Amino acid sequence: MITTTSTTMEGAILKLPCLRTVSRNPNLTNRSSGSLRWRSRPLHVSASAASSPSLINDTKIGPGSLGHITRSDFPILHQEINGSKLVYLDNAATSQKPTAVINALQNYYEAYNSNVHRGIHYLSAKATDEYESARQKVADFINAAGAREIVFTRNATEAINLVAYSWGLSNLKPGDEIITTVAEHHSAIVPWQFVAQKTGAVLRFVNLTEDEVADVDQLRGFLSRKTKLLVIHHVSNMLASVLPMDEVISWAHDVGAKVLVDACQSVPHMVVDVKTLDADFLVASSHKMCGPTGVGFLYGKSEILSAMPPFLGGGEMIADVYLDHSTYAEPPSRFEAGTPAIGEAIGLGAAIDYLSEIGMQRIHDYEVSLYPLTSYS
Ligand SMILES: Cc1ncc(COP(=O)(O)O)c(C=O)c1O
Repeated sequence: MITTTSTTMEGAILKLPCLRTVSRNPNLTNRSSGSLRWRSRPLHVSASAASSPSLINDTKIGPGSLGHITRSDFPILHQEINGSKLVYLDNAATSQKPTAVINALQNYYEAYNSNVHRGIHYLSAKATDEYESARQKVADFINAAGAREIVFTRNATEAINLVAYSWGLSNLKPGDEIITTVAEHHSAIVPWQFVAQKTGAVLRFVNLTEDEVADVDQLRGFLSRKTKLLVIHHVSNMLASVLPMDEVISWAHDVGAKVLVDACQSVPHMVVDVKTLDADFLVASSHKMCGPTGVGFLYGKSEILSAMPPFLGGGEMIADVYLDHSTYAEPPSRFEAGTPAIGEAIGLGAAIDYLSEIGMQRIHDYEVSLYPLTSYS
């Protein structure tokens, strides 16, 4: 779904400024306000975009624009509501699904519905191959080192809870600090309240600047050897601001902290590369990136996931089960107890194919070109 920006929160229509990039002002001291600059049109054009005849001459709206070209891919938009063509802008809450994703789901149920990792018959082998291929697609999409670093979850919320209950409960102790911002989605705040209550760790909140973006200078000032985890959005669902994530992550790593990036609103709109960012954990939801509901993912650095205990117990996550104890599978299976959302994960793979075919840089460039049209007044 090609749209203007991520400026709604759970369906509520907010009057917000255009997408903004936050940068740290080097002239300011650690605790002073961060600066704000309007994001300029990016210079990079992806290979797929460059090979497409339409981008360079792209008009912002109307025939020939990326939005116009892709509109026909979304069956839900082929209807009139109250006598008008349907226009959908609530992509921050959930995106619409292209035909390719709907077909992938339908094909799974019509042609090879079966459980994964537990059958030796044709359908199970096919379902397992497709499910694992979807995991590889997610890994490639965010440039993870391998599919073993991708855990399928129900959504981003469950991915954050996985890190909270598994990594958080086993690594945090009284006096340790978890730093986050007041601009996080509730799913990135509440799990850490649970963990702070259970471990005695302290949850500290970075405020907004006068420009209403997370104050990255205050954040830098908060970081210390006591900081064990930074939980932070890449693009804000409330403020539409883009944080300088690579810088922020390097500051956190300088004090030995791990970083969990909430990439729900960045992964669908721009190139996100976990190696370049050096993120320790990163989460996103399929349904915000043209994929089905019911599936999301956690990226975790391999060595960190390997050291984490399971989050949920059940089938699939075990190596051996005895009556008094069990041993656990290696990640990612260790964190995928029970039958997963198989068709939905395969649908997410189809959504990634769809987005990749257009090109994430191209999508980003197009969205940026629309920002002037989105100044709410
Ligand atoms: C920034 C951000 N983080 C986390 C979430 C939670 O996503 P989900 O409800 O799919 O788990 C959302 C959903 O709106 C979001 O915008």
